[in-house]
Amino acid sequence: MLFPDYRPRRLRQNDAFRRMIRETILTVDDLVLPLFVIAGKDVRNPIPSMPGHCQLSMDHLVQTAKEAHQLGIPAVMLFGIPEKKDPLGTRAYATDGIVQKAVQTMKRTLPELVVITDVCLCQYTDHGHCGVVEGQTIDNDASLDLLARTALSHAKAGADMVAPSDMMDGRVAEIREILDENGFSHVPIMSYSAKYCSAYYGPFRAAAHSAPQFGDRRTYQMDPANALEAIREVSMDVEEGADIIMVKPALPYLDIICRVRQEIDLPIAAYNVSGEYAMIKAADEKGWLDGEKVMMETLTAIKRAGADMILTYFAMDAAKAVRG
Ligand code: PBG
Ligand code: ZN
Repeated sequence: MLFPDYRPRRLRQNDAFRRMIRETILTVDDLVLPLFVIAGKDVRNPIPSMPGHCQLSMDHLVQTAKEAHQLGIPAVMLFGIPEKKDPLGTRAYATDGIVQKAVQTMKRTLPELVVITDVCLCQYTDHGHCGVVEGQTIDNDASLDLLARTALSHAKAGADMVAPSDMMDGRVAEIREILDENGFSHVPIMSYSAKYCSAYYGPFRAAAHSAPQFGDRRTYQMDPANALEAIREVSMDVEEGADIIMVKPALPYLDIICRVRQEIDLPIAAYNVSGEYAMIKAADEKGWLDGEKVMMETLTAIKRAGADMILTYFAMDAAKAVRG
């Protein structure tokens, strides 16, 4: 159909028409709020590059989680900032670790809110890498057991879902096995499957004290130039038992979300990461763009590309916006 027979503007002429033909609608059900927990009492350390976000001690964590729950946000993703780090990241899989304690408290006080835990070693290792270091390299297979133990300790604490973000090969199978062996076959795995080696993680690393102390993450996170490889990564995680697969970051990788959507029938999560948040907040603060409008456009675009859920530091703001 061509002009003048077809006039696309006919269905754009008023808000009711536009609402009737809208293809993608962001709802609060799509949102997951990432939170950072730190030791202590009454601690709220603002994260300068992530306005509105803080490292929270348990009391404030519960309070913030309550607010999220009241806004209708179905789930939070927990990151821990431990008091001590060591080469093997032992506080990542300690029964009395920061995340383990936080999960227990949250499930006791707010049982309906889904608690997803990030499973990785980088916040807990003194070298800041996501796996075990051998000389100057990251030892894949030696890391698997520690990651599996971390996931198990989270499940034992009551985590509703575990989310490995380390990008070691074979970790999903290892985690599925240890969970099943220990009576946690009901705990789903959200795998950071296509996780790129991205400079957009900068603000997060400052917030979580998880920057690598030597080298970078290029030997385990994906090369931003690759798309076919993302399909291979995702397929492996599906074979290994992932229940939800993740693409990360989100906005610069919409093509990857879209391709994965076409290839895979599992739910897809997209992680709208710290740097994506920081850019919009910074430009908004400068008055260079309308932060709330750009937020909604961005999150809607991520959903339009094929994401079923979005991990985003905008979760609270977006929940308020969609409620009107
Ligand atoms: C660590 C981890 C990172 C993020 C989530 N888990 C950073 C990294 O891989 O260096 C990034 C989140 C964000 O930037 O918002 N495994
Ligand atoms: Zn990591």
